Amino acid sequence: MFFELTEEQKAVQAAARDFAQNVLKPGVIDRDREQKFPTEEIKQLGELGFLGMMVDPKYGGGGMDTISYVLAMEEISKIDASTSVVMSVNNSLVCWGLENFASEEQKQKYLVPLAKGEKIGAFCLSEPEAGSDATSQRTTAIDMGDHYLLNGTKNWITNGGTASTYLVMAQTDVAKGHKGINCLIVEKGMPGFVVGAKEDKLGIRGSDTHTLMFQDVKVPKANRIGEDGFGFKFAMKTLSGGRIGIAAQALGIASGAFELATAYSKERKAFGKTISQHQAIQFKLADMATEIEAARLLCLKAAWLKDQHMNYDIASSMAKLFSSEVAMKTTVEAIQVHGGYGYVKEYHVERLMRDAKITQIYEGTSEVQRIVIGRSVTG
Ligand code: CAA
Repeated sequence: MFFELTEEQKAVQAAARDFAQNVLKPGVIDRDREQKFPTEEIKQLGELGFLGMMVDPKYGGGGMDTISYVLAMEEISKIDASTSVVMSVNNSLVCWGLENFASEEQKQKYLVPLAKGEKIGAFCLSEPEAGSDATSQRTTAIDMGDHYLLNGTKNWITNGGTASTYLVMAQTDVAKGHKGINCLIVEKGMPGFVVGAKEDKLGIRGSDTHTLMFQDVKVPKANRIGEDGFGFKFAMKTLSGGRIGIAAQALGIASGAFELATAYSKERKAFGKTISQHQAIQFKLADMATEIEAARLLCLKAAWLKDQHMNYDIASSMAKLFSSEVAMKTTVEAIQVHGGYGYVKEYHVERLMRDAKITQIYEGTSEVQRIVIGRSVTG
């Protein structure tokens, strides 16, 4: 077992840290307050190759490993989880799904601009009545010969307004249950596709979350990913990797809050010494440091398994479950270390706490991760 990062991985980590500190940090409080999408920042992230990090260079990607992706996600998420969720969805759910399961023609048309960061993608599985119970898709894709007729509503779609390419799961044959679900590539602007209102959220307020409506949208058969009925497996396989990205996001939120709390504790004085010298604060920081390190190891283990082409389904659920709980706990404690200052926007930790909550909900709630892990341990 070898825990040292390669020089290339360290360089990716340093580049992401630099970008987060110098480009993302200055406007992060305003973007959160105003729910402003980081348009310019995402453009720059794309130019740096962070939106298609793991895609083969022949399709316009960075050809990096999943460990580098985790390192970059942690650094970006320490500062701005609204930006890192765009990065995570584009990399793990959209680019990875297309690279691994789309046809060569689909890859040339859709993957290349997404991997280069020229366009943004969205992954559309959740529905008003199909969140955790993802097999119960109500959106329908009726087979009309040379095209599908798509009807239905998708909820909570990250990049819903800003994306150009949407991977939409829909039921073609109800009688076949989850084996009747297909994944269709839908383009913004296809007649009958309407982007609904933007959600006003507790956290990740800079990200762009929408309801999407499809009314008699004609999607060419050529836009189906894989064989007929492959859509649910496509979604599950893609989400397994996506969960590594969200685990790394949660890790970043936690480590960002920890770094702020540690720095503050060394400046703030009470009872004649810095609060870092009080055991009550040291114990909190010690617990945070230990739990964050454990979360990091779970994230890196899941990433390593993926890079070795070994099964990572359980490892990614464990990483997401644990890291998201650590993110929630650490951010609450980081506010406590800051006292009253932690409760105001200027000190960043209150935003990190609001951002942490979503990591226990999206790409499968903590309960869904427990289902996946529980089924595996009980056989
Ligand atoms: N890889 C491949 N196949 C898989 C799989 C995986 N990781 N997980 C399940 N499957 C297959 C199963 O083998 C089974 O296939 P067979 O019938 O051929 O054996 C099929 O899928 C159905 O599996 P289950 O019987 O286990 O399905 P279930 O109904 O019991 O549900 C679940 C399992 C884990 C709860 C699943 O529904 C799930 O993950 N739900 C949560 C969905 C989710 O994460 N939504 C997030 C939305 S996306 C998002 O948030 C993105 C964003 O914008 C940020």
